[in-house]
Amino acid sequence: MPNTKIAGIGFYVPEQVVTNHDLMRHMDTTDEWIQERSGIVERRFAKRTEETTTTLGAKAAEIAIQRAGITKEDVDFIIFATLSPDYFFPGCGVLLQRELGITHTEIGALDIRNQCSGFVYGLSVADQFVKSGMYKNVLLVGSEVHSMGIDFSTRGRNVTVLFGDGAGAVVLQPTEEKGKGVLVSKLHSDGTHAEQLAFINPGCHAGYHFKKMGTEVDFGYEDVEFGGLFLTQKMMDDGMIFPNMDGPLVFKHAVTKFPEVIMEVLNDQGLSTSDINLFVPHQANLRISQLVQRQLHLRDDQVWNNIQRYGNTTAATIPIALCEAWEAGKVKDGDLICIAAFGSGFTWGASLIRW
Ligand code: UT7
Repeated sequence: MPNTKIAGIGFYVPEQVVTNHDLMRHMDTTDEWIQERSGIVERRFAKRTEETTTTLGAKAAEIAIQRAGITKEDVDFIIFATLSPDYFFPGCGVLLQRELGITHTEIGALDIRNQCSGFVYGLSVADQFVKSGMYKNVLLVGSEVHSMGIDFSTRGRNVTVLFGDGAGAVVLQPTEEKGKGVLVSKLHSDGTHAEQLAFINPGCHAGYHFKKMGTEVDFGYEDVEFGGLFLTQKMMDDGMIFPNMDGPLVFKHAVTKFPEVIMEVLNDQGLSTSDINLFVPHQANLRISQLVQRQLHLRDDQVWNNIQRYGNTTAATIPIALCEAWEAGKVKDGDLICIAAFGSGFTWGASLIRW
């Protein structure tokens, strides 16, 4: 059975740089608060009406495809991970296919909804397809345009200051080189705190989960015989149409789950943290990355962080960071790369890749 290798990698971030000072013009926040609590200095925002999650993903994909030495027509499966899709449906997978100009239909497109761990989940799914021999050139994209769906008033500041737009992509191919490629992935989930990091409206839940949890919320649904609206005036008036996050709760879980799942993949392979050449964590908060680094006794040169420049781009953070590290010559043939993510769901996971 072949292993799955990353044959090409690319990333794209919009040109528009938005600094903490720019955000201060819209909400009650400070550059000091943002930098101290998250490490973020600036992020990129997509150009409204010209760029979408799909188009950012397509730009990253084109670079990955070119670096893999294939053409767009060679791609036989698309996996698109995002929490900020262009449409409720269809997903960005088919929109990316169209954007890339792939007109043949000997291809499948799958959308992954695992938020911050979307890339790790997507890699694991792609790995199974490649290993089984079903596909030879899987295009995996993580892309987000958060700037279209966050609250720029003070009410949303705990979330809004953290997020940015961007995309990363990889082309995955089979390799017969022993011990190379994706060595292992471990995936986890726990729905207990689903609403604590969530974009709840619009949705088709009609308040069900809140009622079940005994925390009934008035979403402004009208009393009708059947059906209803997934977006009500009250949701818009009360600002219930933005992501919400219990930051400290997420933080607490993240700093325990990251080390756990990283040790799980290392133990699976009989490896230790000192064997890691480069650790590329999901970029949620520089403090989380640094705490995880400390717990795992990793040196600074073993870790790649770039949240300072891009903020949290959710499904895109890992491929963007991995690509930057690769471009900087930090990812060499034979290196052991560890990627890990934790986020909404909660879902989390890690993979080890021998480059
Ligand atoms: O990738 C998705 C996964 N997400 C994460 O992993 C995020 C995990 N959580 C975090 O990164 C941190 O919890 C945050 C960066 C979100 C927040 O940092 P914190 O140290 O946990 O702050 P906090 O939420 O406990 O808030 C502290 C104070 C509050 O004021 P009071 O109640 O102490 O008066 C907030 O209202 O900071 C206030 N605050 C802000 N102040 C200025 C919250 N957001 C802001 C802001 N600017 N943007």
